[in-house]
Amino acid sequence: MGTQQSNPAGPDLAAGVPIDDLPHGHMLVGHVGEDAVLLARRGNEFFAVGATCSHYGGPLAEGLMVEDTVRCPWHHACFSLRTGEALHPPALSPLACWAVEQRDGKLFVTAKKEAPAQEGRDRAAPAAGMPERIVIVGGGAAGFAAAERLRREQYQGSIVMLSNDDAPPVDRPNLSKDYLAGNAPEEWVPLRPESFYVDNGIELRLNAHVTAIDPRSREVALGGGSKLRYDRLLLATGAEPVRLSVPGAGPQQLLLLRSLADCRTIIERAKNARRAVVLGASFIGLEVAASLRARDIEVHVVAPEKRPMERILGPQIGDFVRALHEEHGVVFHLEDTAGSIDGNRMALKSGATIDADLVVAGVGVRPRTELAEQAGLKLDRGVIVDAYLETSAPGAFAAGDIARWPDPHSGENIRVEHWVVAERQGQTAALNMLGQRKKFVAVPFFWSQHYDVPINYVGHAEKWDELTIDGDVMARNCLLRYKRNGRVLAVASIYRDVESLKAEVAMEREAA
Ligand SMILES: Cc1cc2nc3c(=O)[nH]c(=O)nc-3n(C[C@H](O)[C@H](O)[C@H](O)COP(=O)(O)OP(=O)(O)OC[C@H]3O[C@@H](n4cnc5c(N)ncnc54)[C@H](O)[C@@H]3O)c2cc1C
Ligand code: FES
Repeated sequence: MGTQQSNPAGPDLAAGVPIDDLPHGHMLVGHVGEDAVLLARRGNEFFAVGATCSHYGGPLAEGLMVEDTVRCPWHHACFSLRTGEALHPPALSPLACWAVEQRDGKLFVTAKKEAPAQEGRDRAAPAAGMPERIVIVGGGAAGFAAAERLRREQYQGSIVMLSNDDAPPVDRPNLSKDYLAGNAPEEWVPLRPESFYVDNGIELRLNAHVTAIDPRSREVALGGGSKLRYDRLLLATGAEPVRLSVPGAGPQQLLLLRSLADCRTIIERAKNARRAVVLGASFIGLEVAASLRARDIEVHVVAPEKRPMERILGPQIGDFVRALHEEHGVVFHLEDTAGSIDGNRMALKSGATIDADLVVAGVGVRPRTELAEQAGLKLDRGVIVDAYLETSAPGAFAAGDIARWPDPHSGENIRVEHWVVAERQGQTAALNMLGQRKKFVAVPFFWSQHYDVPINYVGHAEKWDELTIDGDVMARNCLLRYKRNGRVLAVASIYRDVESLKAEVAMEREAA
């Protein structure tokens, strides 16, 4: 999946379209000059915004209009039709907006509206009652979304983002997909150019390893021995890949994938590789397998389970994903694990051997909770937060892969490892660090991509007692509902985007 620019198609909206062509609650796509424009109607109100999602270019006309918003069919970003603002990630940038005029039974899309200035504002002292300094530990999805949102909210105080990575925040999902496959240029990887941080007064400190947090004195300690005071803290340290220990494996032999640096190492090693072993048949492992196949490398997947992804998506999608990868030449060694490595030869527990010049392990992650533990925060397989994403230490919030929050949809305290959830939590934490008291109520969403097949998942079902299927999984046209006691907890889909969006809206309304 990559950024796609829709070719301006449909009617010339500057020349006018009959009002009757656009019933209430409907959208139509056309163009104004070179720009693809989405025209939408709610009652007697008309809106015109850019037709292409600012995340990866999804066609918004194929999404879902909900009141005065539009949701993207690809990864469920949500935009205001009134202002173009990106209301829900993964999109963070607004859509352009146009004025709409009614004349003689027709609608005319006229002038493009000025975008509100977001960057390069002069920063004054924070308003009374606002925190003076917000420290964000982590330069990933949640940390970045929080910093961006704080400035969007016109927060004038100091924002310091501490990341022990050497790269500014990156589009991590791309690292196992297009970028690893060699289909995405380098400039797609950073979430924002470095100038963004300067222009927005976000003090991004890279290679900054936070070693301790003292919630009583409200200080964080850094690797070099320095300390930094905070008024509000966001802990967004994410997760790290589980390291397998395989007898005989050299220290650099089992490659992992989390950071841009990890991805570059795999790409470098892939240049001279003929055959790769991927340990693990879940999302990251199989996305890596697909990307290595795009580089024409022979790929063997070794994993202990009977079917890929069965625990999360069920047997039908598991069988489909396996067949899809086999169609692309991947060889599976399921119900098997790596026993030992001798040079380039991997011996499996079953006795089989594979000669491989590249081994990537994608066998799960564990939340990075060391700092929270040292700080005495309440933990339970993650950092416990309340509905406002505040930890057990007042003024210290947590978001993203480390946070376990009270999910109003499942009624359980859950922790997930989804890009969009991390971003949405980062935004909610930002609002709450400014005292807005917003509960985190978003329905969890994730996507995964294998070759040209996207899988979307809405909700959260750790266990289910009934699984219903609309459509045909093998024909790549299906919607699966995961139910417990008759209630739909989650929905997975392949090429049923509008139904997936409708399921999301239904789950939101159910918990409201
Ligand atoms: C290759 C890959 C592909 C993925 N694809 C998808 C996908 O398609 N769909 C999906 O929904 N999810 C996907 N995910 C999962 C998604 O990326 C994560 O859920 C998300 O990044 C979590 O965001 P986060 O902010 O919690 O953590 P991260 O994005 O991991 O950020 C954590 C940050 O904290 C920093 N940090 C950690 N400890 C310290 C410390 N002590 N001091 C200073 N800094 C520290 C790290 O350097 C990093 O910058 C993917 C993950 C990976 C690795
Ligand atoms: S392309 Fe629209 S949300 Fe990703």
